[in-house]
Amino acid sequence: MTCQTWPEPVVRVQSLAESGLRLIPECYIKPKSQRPTKMNSTFVPNHDPINIPIIDLQGLYGEDQTLREEVLGRVAEACREWGFFQVVNHGVSHELMKSARELWREFFNQPLEEKEVYANSPSTYEGYGSRLGVKKGAILDWSDYFFLHYKPLSLRNQAKWPSIPQSLRKVIGEYSEEVIKLGGRILKIMSKNLGLKEDHLIKAFGGENEIGGCLRVNFYPKCPQPDLTLGLSSHSDPGGMTIILPDDFVSGLQVWRENEWVTVKPFPNAFIINIGDQIQVMSNAIYKSVEHRVIVNSNKDRVSLAFFYNPKSDLLIEPSKELVTKEKPSLYSPMTYDEYRLYIRTHGPCGKAQVESLISKK
Ligand code: OGA
Ligand code: NI
Repeated sequence: MTCQTWPEPVVRVQSLAESGLRLIPECYIKPKSQRPTKMNSTFVPNHDPINIPIIDLQGLYGEDQTLREEVLGRVAEACREWGFFQVVNHGVSHELMKSARELWREFFNQPLEEKEVYANSPSTYEGYGSRLGVKKGAILDWSDYFFLHYKPLSLRNQAKWPSIPQSLRKVIGEYSEEVIKLGGRILKIMSKNLGLKEDHLIKAFGGENEIGGCLRVNFYPKCPQPDLTLGLSSHSDPGGMTIILPDDFVSGLQVWRENEWVTVKPFPNAFIINIGDQIQVMSNAIYKSVEHRVIVNSNKDRVSLAFFYNPKSDLLIEPSKELVTKEKPSLYSPMTYDEYRLYIRTHGPCGKAQVESLISKK
């Protein structure tokens, strides 16, 4: 059972930010332990040597076998150690990436009335939204978003996509196609690295024509008190894998690594890839989804495009038989992704609580 309506009147964070208020409303103030203070962040402007791995995929498609192995090895290590990495020479046109991001920025910069036409509800989340989860009285995140389905075809409904800017619908289509191709290539790499057949994971996802693909465009308005709130609370992504196109000017994404928050420094024209809970389950936790969050700032808005590459939603997802042994028994019982994602849609972002609760239930 999902709720049909939001528990409280919806407030657009962008409108709040543009109203010029100096103090943020109480419902955005996070408990002290979650705030992005210097104590729990590694962020030191211009002086932070740590970043998630940056991997050049070029070598995978050349003749040089040593280089190929090296690239595969780097992806394997990033998947095991970080759950997050950036890829360059990924095959997606830089022009297309830029136009997708700029058209979405234009969408958010339209007057409120234009966007309200697409206001979403918690039954499907499709459209223009400002919260995740339906708990009354929840502390909210400092962001608005637009969520849409691209795959499967049966869920694609262009009438629910923005009609302005005029070329946005066309660009969403072109962009999603390219990003899905990239996702397919990365699933092959992960399959090989896990010692499975190259097409193992894509098959476990239901096959190319059946996968789920949805786009969540995040808009993080500037915030007068960025130290008290978060643009997006800590969570792991519930789906298979996420392919993020970050803002080219403003950083904000932080990844939990060895007891501290590492701020991602986006590499020009790179995509950020991260492992979701379903790949954690399929790999029997050889690869783990990693907690991440977004911080905001008082100077600049930030836009990011998160493309969720998901398994067919009514398939039972469970650890691959090849990865279950006497020494490493199956950690998770089978569950469909449809069932799984209800949790975050009801509770909102809750770190890794859900995937961890699966283990203890077994
Ligand atoms: C998400 C997410 C990160 C970002 O949408 O799940 O983690 O940089 N986004 O906006
Ligand atoms: Ni995420």
